Amino acid sequence: MASLYERACKVIPPVGTARYTKLGVVKGEGSYLYTDDGRKLLDFVMGIGANNVGHNHPLVIEAARKQMENLVHAGHNVVYYESYVALAEEITKAVGGDSMIYFSNSGSEANDGAIKLAKYATERPAIITFINAFHGRTMGAMALTASNSAYRKHYEGLMPSVYYARYPDLYHSPVPVKDGKCPEFFMEQFKTMFDTIVDPYSVAGIIMEPEQGEGGYIVPPKEFVHFMRDMCDKYGIMLIFDEVQCGNGRTGKLYCQEHFGVRPDFFSTAKGIGAGFPLSAVIGKTSVMKKWLPGAHGGTFGGNPVSCAAGLASLKILRNGGIENAAKMGAYFKEQLLQLQKKYPVIGDVRGLGLMLAIEMVKDGKKPDTELTTKLIDTALDKGLLLISCGTYHNAIRFIPPCTVSKKEIDEAVTILDSCFTVCLS
Ligand SMILES: Cc1ncc(COP(=O)(O)O)c(C=O)c1O
Repeated sequence: MASLYERACKVIPPVGTARYTKLGVVKGEGSYLYTDDGRKLLDFVMGIGANNVGHNHPLVIEAARKQMENLVHAGHNVVYYESYVALAEEITKAVGGDSMIYFSNSGSEANDGAIKLAKYATERPAIITFINAFHGRTMGAMALTASNSAYRKHYEGLMPSVYYARYPDLYHSPVPVKDGKCPEFFMEQFKTMFDTIVDPYSVAGIIMEPEQGEGGYIVPPKEFVHFMRDMCDKYGIMLIFDEVQCGNGRTGKLYCQEHFGVRPDFFSTAKGIGAGFPLSAVIGKTSVMKKWLPGAHGGTFGGNPVSCAAGLASLKILRNGGIENAAKMGAYFKEQLLQLQKKYPVIGDVRGLGLMLAIEMVKDGKKPDTELTTKLIDTALDKGLLLISCGTYHNAIRFIPPCTVSKKEIDEAVTILDSCFTVCLS
C-alpha cells in the first residue's frame, strides 16, 4: 500500500511535500506523536512551536468540542461571539491592561497586519527589520524575512522601503564581546542607517523577534532591546515585536518581551495562541490600536470561534502552571545541553530562553557543520526523537517541546541525543 507521503507527492506540489520528514502520523497525545506504521515518537517540534500545551490537551479538546456544538463560524466582522471577546479580555488582562487585540489566522497574516498598523498609525512608509529575521511568507511578511534567500527567490520586487539592520548575534559578533554585553558596534551600525539610508522620521516601524526563531534561536542582549525602545521613542517609530514563535509561554514567560522589560507599541503572535487551532493576533497599546479605523484591515476567518475557545483553554493551562513549568524545565534542559557541550565540542553554542532552545554545530572554529546537524537529526528520528533544524545554514538543532513537558521526557530526549553524537561522531 502506498504511504501517505507517496500519495501526497501525487497530489501536492513539491512546495508542500519537501517536508522535514516523510512520516505519516495518526495521533498526537501530550509530548508524543504516533505514526501510521506503529511508532511512538517523542515530539520536540510540536508542529513548529505551535502546540504549546502538547498534543490534544483534554481541556483544549473539550473547549473546542463544546464551541463546535454551538457555533463554528459567523465572521468577526459581522457579529460578536463570546469566545472572541472573552479571549481578548483575558489576554489584555494578562499583559497588564491598557491593550487591545485584533485576531487573524496565521503568523504571516498577523505580521502583514502589524506592518499595515505601523504605516496607518504613523502615516510613514518605511519598515526596519533584521538580518536572519523570519516574519512569514505572504508578500508583506516575506519582504521583512531575511533568514534565508530561498524564501525570496523569484519573488523580488518586494514591498518597497524595507531596510535590514544587523541583529545582535553575539556568538558570531565581528567585534569582541565583553562580559556578554552588547558591543557598541551593533548600536552604531543601527544609527548609521539613519544617517545614510533612511531618515528616521520616514520610518513607521521597527519589527524584531525578541528571540529569533527560524534565524537560529538567537537571543539579543537586553541593552540592544532597550536601545530599540529608545530609538523608537526618540523618532516616533512603532516598536513591533514578532512573538509568533516565542510567545504564549514558550520562553517561560507568557510573552518573551517580559525577559527584557521592554514594552513594544504592539506585537504579533500566532502558533501557541490557538493550541494547534489556526489563530493569530496583533496586540498593542490602546492608544495605538484605537488609531486603526474600520476598513483599514479585516479578514473572514480571523478569530474563529473554535480557535478562540481553544485559545482560552490553552491560556488557562499556561497560567495554571504551564508557564512555570516551561521556565523550570527550560532551565533544566539547558543545563543538560551545556553538559553535552562539554562532552562534544562540536556543539559551538547552547542558547535560548525557556523551552525555545538550540545547539549550534560548528567545525574549523565557528563554521557551520550542516552535514553533522542533518546526520544527528536523522539518527534521532531513527531512535524515536523528532527534531528539526534552524539557522540560515541549518546547522542548529532546535528544541521546542510543549510547556507541559516532564523532566522524564527531557531526560529521554537528552539520552537519545547523547547516543546520536556517539553514533555520528564515530
Ligand atoms: C517568528 C515568526 N514569525 C512569523 C511566522 C509565520 O507564521 P505562519 O507560518 O503562521 O504564517 C513564523 C513561522 O514560523 C515565525 O516563526
